[in-house]
Amino acid sequence: MKTAIIAGCRTPFVRSGTHFSRLTAIDLGRHAVTELMARSEIPPGEVDQIVYGTVVHDPQAPNIAREVGLATLPKDVPAVTVSRACASANQAISDGVNLIESGQADVVVAGGAECLSRIPILVSDRLSRTLVAASRAKTLGARLRTFARTRPRDLVPVAPAIAEYSTGESMGEAAERMAKENGIGREEQDRWALGSHLKAHAGTEDGRLTAEIAPLYVPPKYTTTVEKDNGIRPDTSMEALSGLRPVFDRKFGSVTAGNSSPLTDGASAVLLASPERAKDLGMEPLGYVRAYALTALDPAAQLLQGPAYAAPLALDRAGLTMADIDLLEMHEAFSAQVLSNLQAWDSDRFCREELGRARKLGHPDPDRINVMGGSIAIGHPFGATGGRLTTTLLNELHRRDGQFGLVTVCAAGGMGFAMVLERG
Ligand SMILES: CC(C)(COP(=O)(O)OP(=O)(O)OC[C@H]1O[C@@H](n2cnc3c(N)ncnc32)[C@H](O)[C@@H]1OP(=O)(O)O)[C@@H](O)C(=O)NCCC(=O)NCCS
Repeated sequence: MKTAIIAGCRTPFVRSGTHFSRLTAIDLGRHAVTELMARSEIPPGEVDQIVYGTVVHDPQAPNIAREVGLATLPKDVPAVTVSRACASANQAISDGVNLIESGQADVVVAGGAECLSRIPILVSDRLSRTLVAASRAKTLGARLRTFARTRPRDLVPVAPAIAEYSTGESMGEAAERMAKENGIGREEQDRWALGSHLKAHAGTEDGRLTAEIAPLYVPPKYTTTVEKDNGIRPDTSMEALSGLRPVFDRKFGSVTAGNSSPLTDGASAVLLASPERAKDLGMEPLGYVRAYALTALDPAAQLLQGPAYAAPLALDRAGLTMADIDLLEMHEAFSAQVLSNLQAWDSDRFCREELGRARKLGHPDPDRINVMGGSIAIGHPFGATGGRLTTTLLNELHRRDGQFGLVTVCAAGGMGFAMVLERG
């Protein structure tokens, strides 16, 4: 498997309800792809397909990929939207790899966007039925009679939930359960979160993180430029983190706002090409996709443990072991989730019983994991994070002269994603 990754970039990732609250996921996606095209200097006519991810879909523009593509690429470039929860941009990248390796495309734009500031607010089932009945009513009187049945409680808006459809459990509750079942303590979780902020701050200050960011002017006046992620807290401390109240189990819990990823807005974009086309166009690849894997487990079990299953599979497919990996970018949904997955890789029992392996995978060197922080500090626009992880990993492999990197993402539905990348 050898698809070249030519370039990657993203918008700043900002906490929902702040700078991007007047923008949509489509606006953010357009910005990221426009910047990608400018940075890579590829003639737009060379792009064969765009694959773009999002999680909370806009019912008025359900194919976000097409809306982003129409504004940034020639109008004859086919576009498809993909959705695999928090691994949606990873899915877009993998689909791009499949298109290239099956010979259906030579150049693909992939990535994803999310604007949780602008989620579609739904109406109750009863109000929905009333509105449909009213729209079918033939006379004004009949229409008014359908509304007469409406009760005040029917008017309460329904927001999309960050919860499992099958079990009703929220991601935070699942992280809480994982912390308890795996014995991941509060201090350990807060320490991970602190590291995420300090490393992300260092990466912002020395320009490594900001180099990947396409600043943008924001409405209403377009006089404010947003240049960097706004969730990073350089002033946080173990003391401040340990003082926060648990959110998902107020009495006995350990998962807090401090050791969770925040609700975030942002977009990412990555340019993929066949090595032959990259060469023809004189483009120097940042790296190559060596292998990837997707897994799924019962959401009622350890919901966010997907990477523990997906990473070994991706490594096997790449013909590598954990010891060969120079850098890891692990999506941090919650500290408890990252630490649970690391614990599983280092567990003889888990690797034997769950993965059927003779030996454990081993715990990667902590100094090689999320070296510029992770989603807890940087933020997590669901559909976009995979693009950030991929771009950051390849850029950092170059800086550190490493060869192989591993991306992992846990996703709703009990799914896990892992991709092995190789420096170009
Ligand atoms: C956990 C969650 C509910 C917190 O939401 P919130 O209450 O709006 O979070 P806030 O940012 O307002 O933080 C709450 C408080 O903690 C404080 N805080 C948060 N992080 C902190 C840190 N690192 N250091 C110090 N204080 C911190 C805030 O300042 C705030 O304090 P205040 O109430 O005095 O203003 C929300 O971020 C969430 O749902 N996250 C999970 C998202 C999810 O499930 N994603 C899917 C994963 S794949």
